[in-house]
Amino acid sequence: MREDARGPFIVFEGIDGAGTTTQCRLLSDRLRRERPDRRVAVTAEPSGGPVGAMIRHVLRERVVGTTALGERASFDRRALALLFAADRLDHVACEIEPLVAAGWVVVSDRYVLSSVAYQGMDAPRAWVETLNSFAPPPDMLVFLDTPVDVAWERIRSSRAGRDVFEAPDTLRRVAAAYRDALPATRAARVVTIPGDLSVDEIAEAVWREVSPLV
Ligand code: TYD
Repeated sequence: MREDARGPFIVFEGIDGAGTTTQCRLLSDRLRRERPDRRVAVTAEPSGGPVGAMIRHVLRERVVGTTALGERASFDRRALALLFAADRLDHVACEIEPLVAAGWVVVSDRYVLSSVAYQGMDAPRAWVETLNSFAPPPDMLVFLDTPVDVAWERIRSSRAGRDVFEAPDTLRRVAAAYRDALPATRAARVVTIPGDLSVDEIAEAVWREVSPLV
């Protein structure tokens, strides 16, 4: 096993239904096949840590507020931005940084840009960027640029329970938010791949970009 250099840290981003989870898995499978000397970790945000678990409950609307007057209130979206930023720093400290420092290739399904795009719709983007300023930039950001109708069709046909962001109008707003946020990312390299190609074509395009790094 190579443990001499820091691993590359690679992040996948895109709207819900863009295919980030599938492409993270395909990339890690191929890395394990073609780079047997590298150790590969696939991770995701919200993370598997304690704050990530709470975020999943909020997204599935299993955590709701009740006001002092006994009325139901949805979870405050700025508080959610704080949770995502807290989850990220915990994820960096406990998983990403130790693995990268030990030479692992770390592939994350979502990272800072998700917060800038999604939480930037509910709070000033500069504030969201400040909250996330301690998160180290990835070596490569792969943006899957998937048309909203393609993404929506995938979500509609494949998932029973939906997160709060999974509705066509919201997907359109998120797609626009990604377009605005992408130029400001601090990632060392940004690669945009059209998300309406076939799964295999996207995986091949990803491999062309990632393989020189590892
Ligand atoms: P997602 O990747 O869709 O997870 P799952 O496949 O388990 O549903 O992520 C969950 C949602 O969280 C998705 O709608 C995007 C949103 N999200 C944010 O709003 N901000 C963030 O910082 C992150 C990481 C995700």
